[in-house]
Amino acid sequence: MKINDVWKSYENLEVLKGISFDVEEKEVKVIFGPSGSGKSTLLRCINMLNPPDKGEIYLRGQNLMSSDIDINVMRSRIGMVFQQFNLFSHLKAVDNVSIGLRRVKGMKKEDAYEKALQALKNVRMDAWANHYPAELSGGQQQRVGIARALAMEPDVILFDEPTSALDPELIGEVLQVMLDIAKSGTTMIVVTHEMGFARAVASEMIFLDKGLMIERGTPEHFFTSPQSERVKKFLNQLEVLYGSHEQLLQFKDKEEL
Ligand SMILES: Nc1ncnc2c1ncn2[C@@H]1O[C@H](COP(=O)(O)OP(=O)(O)O)[C@@H](O)[C@H]1O
Ligand SMILES: [Mg+2]
Repeated sequence: MKINDVWKSYENLEVLKGISFDVEEKEVKVIFGPSGSGKSTLLRCINMLNPPDKGEIYLRGQNLMSSDIDINVMRSRIGMVFQQFNLFSHLKAVDNVSIGLRRVKGMKKEDAYEKALQALKNVRMDAWANHYPAELSGGQQQRVGIARALAMEPDVILFDEPTSALDPELIGEVLQVMLDIAKSGTTMIVVTHEMGFARAVASEMIFLDKGLMIERGTPEHFFTSPQSERVKKFLNQLEVLYGSHEQLLQFKDKEEL
């Protein structure tokens, strides 16, 4: 996928000021930066929930901004995982996953159910298929949220701070699932401050501040030789909030969880 010179304003506020980057198939791109820097806006531009004012978004060579495209079809090819899970509270886990398959993909009830169960299995939530969101922990709800995205077999899944609403002890199980699906070849754009996750699977990280890409590079680059003062300051703040550099980088692989 290709994001080319994306600009977005809300009234007088310029939130994105010319963002460009490519995401290769099976690549994991991590986006991070201070609150209000435009990360969520960027994801909403990419899935056309909030189309850019200017610029292009290409998915497998197709320009999502062009008028002759069926935007609902294209949107179904872009999965989204939200900070607040956004599950339907009146639907069981399996129905939260199957509803998109039925409504968007037009699958038969039984087929959608089977596929939803398989997706729940991939996030180790099949045993909870018949439970309602209120009966699940935050980590379990988020795994259902991931299953819902996975089941649609999208070309790319966007994650908007998927672990930041979770209690610390529930973060690991969600990161583990994200690591699993990254390793199985899912193309992902992940807004997160989980540096251990980034180090484990990101091919590139992009630091966003005030709607600009300030710095980009490999995880190794950011953890050993960040260039800009803003990035250095931000990484230091993360350490103050979440613990030492070593702790931040701890999440490596499933053996360590
Ligand atoms: N729907 C909106 N209307 C007006 N301003 C918005 C809207 N959504 C976001 N903003 C503003 O745009 C800026 C970037 O927000 P956001 O993309 O949510 O940042 P981040 O996800 O990095 O915290 C913030 O100043 C925010 O207040
Ligand atoms: Mg946000």
